[in-house]
Amino acid sequence: MTGASTGMGASTARELARRGFHVLAGVRRDHDADAIRSTGVEPIILDITEPEQVEALAARVAGDPRALHALVNNAGIQVNAPVEALPMTQWRWVFEVNLFGHIAVTRALLPALLVGGTSRGLARRSRRSGPVVRALARCPPR
Ligand SMILES: NC(=O)c1ccc[n+]([C@@H]2O[C@H](COP(=O)([O-])OP(=O)(O)OC[C@H]3O[C@@H](n4cnc5c(N)ncnc54)[C@H](OP(=O)(O)O)[C@@H]3O)[C@@H](O)[C@H]2O)c1
Repeated sequence: MTGASTGMGASTARELARRGFHVLAGVRRDHDADAIRSTGVEPIILDITEPEQVEALAARVAGDPRALHALVNNAGIQVNAPVEALPMTQWRWVFEVNLFGHIAVTRALLPALLVGGTSRGLARRSRRSGPVVRALARCPPR
């Protein structure tokens, strides 16, 4: 679960743990890690725009004998502003987080998902995620 510090990410991480899953909960700050840590919820420092942290997550997953059932690409930022109100750097940052960050995490975990997950083992809370979800859905379940 990426973006597990607040909102739907934190709630979903706790609910999945309540249902018996072991959840790797991505957060960006130590105090958020302390807040989310509980039975079945293991915090992972993860900024999805930081390649080293994405690689560390992949290594954490690869070193775990348990199957990776699913990846929830929940992290995201919302910008509601007139197009002229923000500089291009900020508009580009929205895509860095909301698109390229998800692709990076998905690419990093896809090998583990294809072994342990199902063809439905990837979720993104957005209608605009079709291409990524379909890329995984094409792979036959094992
Ligand atoms: N709420 C809605 O009505 C709605 C509607 C459509 C889509 N969504 C999407 O659904 C998701 C969850 O919504 P929400 O309302 O629960 O959002 P939220 O409370 O704002 O939570 C967003 C989460 O994403 C994390 N995040 C932001 N940038 C990140 C980055 N670079 N790397 C890793 N984590 C990052 C935040 O971490 P920090 O605390 O460290 O910033 C936070 O944990 C978001 O992607 C949002 O865009 C929400």
